[in-house]
Amino acid sequence: MFTQTTDVRSRTPQGNKILAKRQLAEGIIEMTVFEPRIAAKCQAGQFFMLRACPRGERVPFTFSDWSRDEGWFRFIFMVVGKTTALLSQLQVGERLQDLAGPLGRPTLGDRHTDSSRPTLGGDRHIDSSRPTATPFGKNIVVVGGGVGTAVAYPVARALCQAECSVRVIVGARTADLLILLDELRALPLQELIITTDDGSAGRTGLVTAPLEELCCADASSKAADGWRADHALIVGPAIMMKFAAATALQAGVPATVSLNPLMVDGTGMCGACRVSIDGQTKFACVDGPDFPAAGVDWEELMSRQRSYLDDERLSYSMWQQEQQRLHDNCDCFDVQDKAQDKVQDGEEVVLHD
Ligand SMILES: Cc1cc2nc3c(=O)[nH]c(=O)nc-3n(C[C@H](O)[C@H](O)[C@H](O)COP(=O)(O)OP(=O)(O)OC[C@H]3O[C@@H](n4cnc5c(N)ncnc54)[C@H](O)[C@@H]3O)c2cc1C
Ligand code: FES
Repeated sequence: MFTQTTDVRSRTPQGNKILAKRQLAEGIIEMTVFEPRIAAKCQAGQFFMLRACPRGERVPFTFSDWSRDEGWFRFIFMVVGKTTALLSQLQVGERLQDLAGPLGRPTLGDRHTDSSRPTLGGDRHIDSSRPTATPFGKNIVVVGGGVGTAVAYPVARALCQAECSVRVIVGARTADLLILLDELRALPLQELIITTDDGSAGRTGLVTAPLEELCCADASSKAADGWRADHALIVGPAIMMKFAAATALQAGVPATVSLNPLMVDGTGMCGACRVSIDGQTKFACVDGPDFPAAGVDWEELMSRQRSYLDDERLSYSMWQQEQQRLHDNCDCFDVQDKAQDKVQDGEEVVLHD
């Protein structure tokens, strides 16, 4: 059904204002949104649900950064279908339809207090005045694959704040798709390891090779100082998490993964995000999204992720045709494109009230 309600510019002037927008890589966008009530509470590993326009679907995204003092949070998304394409059209100063969050359990547990206070466009800093114990031990390796780095970054930051010894491995297909490297380099990490499938940056290959070294108990471990992970925290595409978790577990290192099943309500009522952990049914939105990797039924997760693939493709292509038709004879895309060009240059567009 082609209706104007799926045109992002037809939404009503309400909802949460977009303060800044930045293109981090091809098809990967960072948005900063004003919502003090969520920014006051969100913690590393948690997510929120948003609707981009009045009749849009609700989709989950993870908090990548926030300022409690200034009342904003950030998220990073990859354009993969209709909703993310629609979201990518929104410009600084425009509003999201609505938000719900923070949802899910924080990676470091409910009692861990995250008091980092990054400021918009300013330096991020770690407030280590009140370090708290983590459930994972001292030496933690955090692994981020692709856009999963958006989740790995605040988790690594919270672990640094808790005075853990943190090594981060980020992997992407190619150098152009690596994100948040400056932010990660600003953290007091033990080490940041970059891998790319094609060797265009860092080590050539998958995240599993350095992960194996950091999990290896053998004295010949390549980790320069004999450092060995007590725990691996892994986030990225399901297939990457499956193999990275197997690598850690085979070396005897417990692993936690951040699962990303399809979600509808995000509050434990619809059952869409059902996953099987050690043969038991759990709901990723309220019991997760983090789960012990050893018990995850990966085949079920990946099969359920593909449940609506044909419908998703159809919906995206119908929306693209609709956009083409709606804007065939008007110049509003030109105006949007000028703002978009700026964003594509990697320049951050920031709202000044
Ligand atoms: C707890 C949670 C946190 C998430 N955080 C982020 C985030 O920070 N950044 C981000 O870019 N994405 C994140 N996602 C995935 C994001 O919600 C989906 O990419 C988005 O819903 C796709 O919507 P769409 O309409 O654009 O694409 P669709 O048309 O719905 O899907 C397009 C393609 O993406 C796949 N897809 C859809 N939803 C998911 C999903 N949940 N996981 C994996 N693949 C999916 C579909 O199978 C299909 O191949 C998160 C998912 C969950 C469950
Ligand atoms: S998304 Fe509905 S139960 Fe989790």
